[in-house]
Amino acid sequence: MLEMKNISKVYRTEHVETHALSELTVTVEAGSFVAVMGPSGCGKTTFLNTAGLLDTFDTGTYHLDGQDVSKLKDREMSRIRNEKIGFIFQTFNLIPDLNVFDNVDVPLRYRGMPAGARRQAIQESLDIVGLSSRLKHLPSQLSGGQQQRVAIARALAGTPRLILADEPTGNLDSAMANDIMDLLEKINETGTTVIMVTHDPELANRAHRQIHLLDGRQIDLEMDEPVPLAGDRAATVGE
Ligand SMILES: Nc1ncnc2c1ncn2[C@@H]1O[C@H](COP(=O)(O)OP(=O)(O)OP(=O)(O)O)[C@@H](O)[C@H]1O
Ligand SMILES: [Mg+2]
Repeated sequence: MLEMKNISKVYRTEHVETHALSELTVTVEAGSFVAVMGPSGCGKTTFLNTAGLLDTFDTGTYHLDGQDVSKLKDREMSRIRNEKIGFIFQTFNLIPDLNVFDNVDVPLRYRGMPAGARRQAIQESLDIVGLSSRLKHLPSQLSGGQQQRVAIARALAGTPRLILADEPTGNLDSAMANDIMDLLEKINETGTTVIMVTHDPELANRAHRQIHLLDGRQIDLEMDEPVPLAGDRAATVGE
């Protein structure tokens, strides 16, 4: 589904250069559920935004769903993003003045879908997240978990191949976080690839695989502490 090779991204401000991604190489198989973990500032959001074509990178190659997306124009990037990818954010990012139905409608309008097809897609995705009875509610009239379910419905309505979720349970208590995780698992079981950033090891353990980032690179946790060779170990004894 996703194949990144040696992706680097540097943020430059007047005074500092931050290497947000450094020669990052990551493959995610279609249909899998992957958790992305790592300390604050290690590049998780940058990775997700790059994967979702919300952000560009400096060097490296990226194939998304078999297509080379390394050098696309902005318009092409937004078309692919709108067609293939659903985003879920920690802060839900719903539009406060739009009710539940209209929030889910936003990406579908952008796609230029006819009204009847949009209505059906909205109702189906709100059914999946269990919020069909809240169509006219504003985000402020919903609980945090419900708001996140609306955001998931919005991501789902466009039938994406890939869902990118950046700490989707970060603002929720553990019961609600588990509900959201159940929902993401259910969505994944229908064949949608899910990549989720989380700080919660229990949730990460429910994913098929974990990707650990450190300083913009993928690390192998087992290889994190280089194992000294027998000779080296002998040499350090008694130092
Ligand atoms: N727009 C930006 N301009 C400059 N530097 C940035 C920008 N966005 C991110 N960075 C830097 O890039 C690095 C990676 O940031 P990123 O947001 O990807 O981290 P993260 O792993 O998602 O952290 P957290 O767990 O706190 O969300 C950080 O050092 C950050 O300061
Ligand atoms: Mg982040």
